[in-house]
Amino acid sequence: MLNRVNRVALIGTGFVGSSYAFALLNQGITEELVLIDLNKEKSEGDAMDLNHGLPFAPSRTKIWFGNYEDCGEADLVVITAGANQKPGETRLDLVEKNTRIFKGIVDEIMSSGFDGIFLVATNPVDILTYAVWKFSGLPKERVIGSGTILDTARFRFLLGDYFDVDTRNVHAYIIGEHGDTELPVWSHADIAGTTISEWTKNKAGYNQADLDQIFLNVRDAAYHIIERKGATYYGIAMGLVRLTKAILRNENSVLTVSAYLDGEYGQKDIFVGVPAVVNRNGIKEVVELELNDEEKEKFTHSVQVLKKTMEPVFN
Ligand code: 2OP
Repeated sequence: MLNRVNRVALIGTGFVGSSYAFALLNQGITEELVLIDLNKEKSEGDAMDLNHGLPFAPSRTKIWFGNYEDCGEADLVVITAGANQKPGETRLDLVEKNTRIFKGIVDEIMSSGFDGIFLVATNPVDILTYAVWKFSGLPKERVIGSGTILDTARFRFLLGDYFDVDTRNVHAYIIGEHGDTELPVWSHADIAGTTISEWTKNKAGYNQADLDQIFLNVRDAAYHIIERKGATYYGIAMGLVRLTKAILRNENSVLTVSAYLDGEYGQKDIFVGVPAVVNRNGIKEVVELELNDEEKEKFTHSVQVLKKTMEPVFN
């Protein structure tokens, strides 16, 4: 593997997939990118369009539209294919339809001889990540869902904006389902090593009601965007690129992803959003935050909702 170039295979070139391809190219993260979509014309058009940007990119990326056979040599397969939420629909409403679509996709990918890492972004992402793990038979470390990476980014952005501090200096996590039952881990939220509660204590103009509203805006962000423009894609695309970089460059970065829990947080046999160390082998370890009682209860509830939704699909 070490002597070869990195290949990313992207399944699904809809809004999320093509935004991901564009961001990946702009950041020069991989040497090869193959675009695969049921709509061949669309992926062929995307490959042409993206290639025309290469003279302006930071490094060379070989981009082409291909088919499932190209996954055999891939280091990373990113799946963004499937139905997406219509206004008024929740992520969990998509479960049956997308699980069916995923069975076909994962079977095709595995038939190519693929033996790399899966990164799943389609909703409901926690459940579909579980589906990919089941359908592929790959070790749990090598199946990763985008989980709450975007919710955590939204949270850090809004907190940074509120406190007028660079969002990169805000450390705060959203965990649980990527969806309506997710929760903020206030007990470990800090700005440059100062907890949010200390930060608010020492400065005028901040209050709990605003912080509560910030979380609601994070949780409901996708609804607000879908109402306005029909879909969300730039934020998640950049989150997927961040994950791709952590994987291909063996960064050991802590990112909130949908990871398999096998006893961590008191939960088993579930993929759900938690901070995890991500590197070239996939998930190196799940970071187990010491949650307070309220957070524990909310996390358990979130897992239960996921399990209940999954039951009819996997049993
Ligand atoms: C998002 O949170 C819809 O899951 C997508 O933007």
